[in-house]
Amino acid sequence: MRTRQLGPLRLVALGEGRCFRLNTLELAVFRPREGGVHATDAACPHKGGPLADGILGGCVVVCPLHGRKWDLTTGAPIGHDGPPLRLHRVRVRDDGELLLEREPESPGPTSSVESAPTEPSRDA
Ligand code: FES
Repeated sequence: MRTRQLGPLRLVALGEGRCFRLNTLELAVFRPREGGVHATDAACPHKGGPLADGILGGCVVVCPLHGRKWDLTTGAPIGHDGPPLRLHRVRVRDDGELLLEREPESPGPTSSVESAPTEPSRDA
């Protein structure tokens, strides 16, 4: 398992999402009020809406563009037959750093790590 640092979890407000970039990979990271952290591709699988700006209710995200819903624990669409979310495994290190965990054989970023949260699109 390879891990990559995304940034401090404190950048993700409780009950909201935030976009992080790791080389060419853009992730939407969500922090439900009920606990846990979930990550998916930043672009909605429907038509590319910015999922990190969606509404989070429990572990369900509502895309801000067309209002479609997905379960962040399974990636499954809710109430529509669109494609599932592509989920990413993340965990929080003891010091609060958000880590992306990837299988060694999975395609993804190179060994040079340049991670940074993108500018927030709204105030937290
Ligand atoms: S782009 Fe997300 S629901 Fe359409």
